[in-house]
Amino acid sequence: MSISEPLTAVQPGLSRDSHLAATNTFEAYRRITAGIDGWFSVGATALWDALLCFQAARAIDGHLLEIGVWEGKSAALMALHARPGEKLILADFELKSTAIRRALASAGLAEGVDVVELGGDSRNLHIHPIVPECFQKVRWMHIDGEHSARAVSSDMALANQLLAPDGVLVVDDFFSWLYPQVTEAVLRYVRQFPDDFTLFLCGYNKAYLARTHFAHRYLAFCAEELPEALAARGLETTVAKTTYPSEMNTFGVGPVFQDLTRRGPDWEPDTLRY
Ligand SMILES: C[S@@+](CC[C@H](N)C(=O)[O-])C[C@H]1O[C@@H](n2cnc3c(N)ncnc32)[C@H](O)[C@@H]1O
Repeated sequence: MSISEPLTAVQPGLSRDSHLAATNTFEAYRRITAGIDGWFSVGATALWDALLCFQAARAIDGHLLEIGVWEGKSAALMALHARPGEKLILADFELKSTAIRRALASAGLAEGVDVVELGGDSRNLHIHPIVPECFQKVRWMHIDGEHSARAVSSDMALANQLLAPDGVLVVDDFFSWLYPQVTEAVLRYVRQFPDDFTLFLCGYNKAYLARTHFAHRYLAFCAEELPEALAARGLETTVAKTTYPSEMNTFGVGPVFQDLTRRGPDWEPDTLRY
């Protein structure tokens, strides 16, 4: 159910102090991975860490999977958040195993985390035994492989098989001028399968999707906790929701805009509806 609340009524679920206490993984990651080559911005790192901490606080468990690993920069953050009994599944056309192992080792994997490396074109993963084994059991999936619309559509279809009911799917280079076909492929897939995915957040070059029947939880997190969670990680932002949920129920996050941490529509900037 959509909620319409004036901003003044939004009660952040956790105070800034509580968020500060929950940022150990972010600080550890920043220390460890400065030397790893890759494409993973500080903004995206803070956003991932905040969402992964949210999953931990809500006891959301399951496997973590990345398509497009390169030397393991973003995978190292997934490694930091992986818990015993979970799989960290890393898929790449050409696996740089030595560099990836080094990145994961510097992150320090928890005992009992099973690292699975899958080499080859991600479009062939549909027939890999990992799919029935992990059917709807992946809580965090990052699509960052081939940036053609055809490949992104295929990777999203794979995500539709694998993502848990309470998981998050992240797609890289959303709204990138360099890869407009990625944005088109994501939005087209969501339009085709509105019962399966809802785009609840975009920003820092990535799209964040949840299962439609669970998206309200992540939407509430964006409205109530995200700005404080990012500030606790040193990232001052504006979290915006600039239209009615019935038109598009997606938050955006970016650098501070108009001195606001939360920003509603142009015609009602003090009201967040979601
Ligand atoms: C931008 S890099 C990934 C960056 C990485 N996530 C990081 O944190 O630095 C893209 C990766 O996708 C891989 N890739 C490209 N096409 C692919 C495909 N069809 N299937 C699987 N991986 C692919 C490339 O080999 C490359 O390692």
